[in-house]
Amino acid sequence: MQPQYNKEIEIFAPATVANLGPGFDIMGMAIEGAGDLVRMKIAPGDELVIRNESGMPLPDDVEKNVVTPALRALVAAWGDPLAIEVTLLKKIRPGSGIGSSSASSAAAVTGLNELLGRPFGEKQLIAFAMEGERLVSGGTAHADNAGPAVAGGIMLIRGYEPLDYIRIPVPGNLCAAVIHPHITVNTLESRAVMRKEIPQCDAVTQWGNVGGLVAGLLTSDMGLIGRSLKDVIAEPYRKHFIPGYDELKEHLAGIGGLLGSNIAGSGPSVFALCDGRQAAAQAGEAMKKHFAALNIEADLYAGPVSGQGARVIR
Ligand code: HSE
Repeated sequence: MQPQYNKEIEIFAPATVANLGPGFDIMGMAIEGAGDLVRMKIAPGDELVIRNESGMPLPDDVEKNVVTPALRALVAAWGDPLAIEVTLLKKIRPGSGIGSSSASSAAAVTGLNELLGRPFGEKQLIAFAMEGERLVSGGTAHADNAGPAVAGGIMLIRGYEPLDYIRIPVPGNLCAAVIHPHITVNTLESRAVMRKEIPQCDAVTQWGNVGGLVAGLLTSDMGLIGRSLKDVIAEPYRKHFIPGYDELKEHLAGIGGLLGSNIAGSGPSVFALCDGRQAAAQAGEAMKKHFAALNIEADLYAGPVSGQGARVIR
């Protein structure tokens, strides 16, 4: 396989909702309409240059950019040094909770794989992208954002050592509304507030809900999906990061076709899963209204789950 030197490509990777309610660190889905756009090229040499033209605040230090460990993992597996130029053109706001770091890492490893002639498969690309997550999550490399950012759709990560994941078919009518209020929640802080030991009764509730959610998705049982979108592990400890969170859930609960709502990843974004586009649009409006009343600007994405992950677009 010959690397394609000096060819410039652009790669898009979607935003993602991690945890999907009960699946802390093991479930995630890609969403339509938001993501990162990255331009890349390679040349002979041994240098990594990352430019930020996204307008979003990112660390100047290459060592602190999530793209760096992801690309280094791929280059180590490739075995030969490379000079790599990455330009971040469009970026999900960092700290949004919709997979900002994963989208960059997923786009970068997908782009580099393409320029090298696709020597690596999907699972390896996810493993490389996870290295970016390790940097922002205090040493834990989880795949609930990185997996769907690379591969699209809804993913269950059955295990990490070794990485073992399952693409879950998405029921045709399943839609999502995701709101990103413009407040920042640091992933490390959001993980730090969680309990390190889980009482047995909470563990039983949680794994019942994870199983129910997976079964509901596999059988397109919207009622079961809704009953299973409950989380006693993360949401109760993280909800104080989101102004008026309990009231927001109450507003949403009254919407016909609403299956359930929860915090997206480590927050502050909030997602609602819905039976149909109309319910997703209504849930989105309710969420927008909630944050507008609190004078908090917010971006809204509403529509079907994205079946596509990171891809070369030019
Ligand atoms: N599963 C992760 C969490 C996603 O909830 O902390 C955010 O990186």
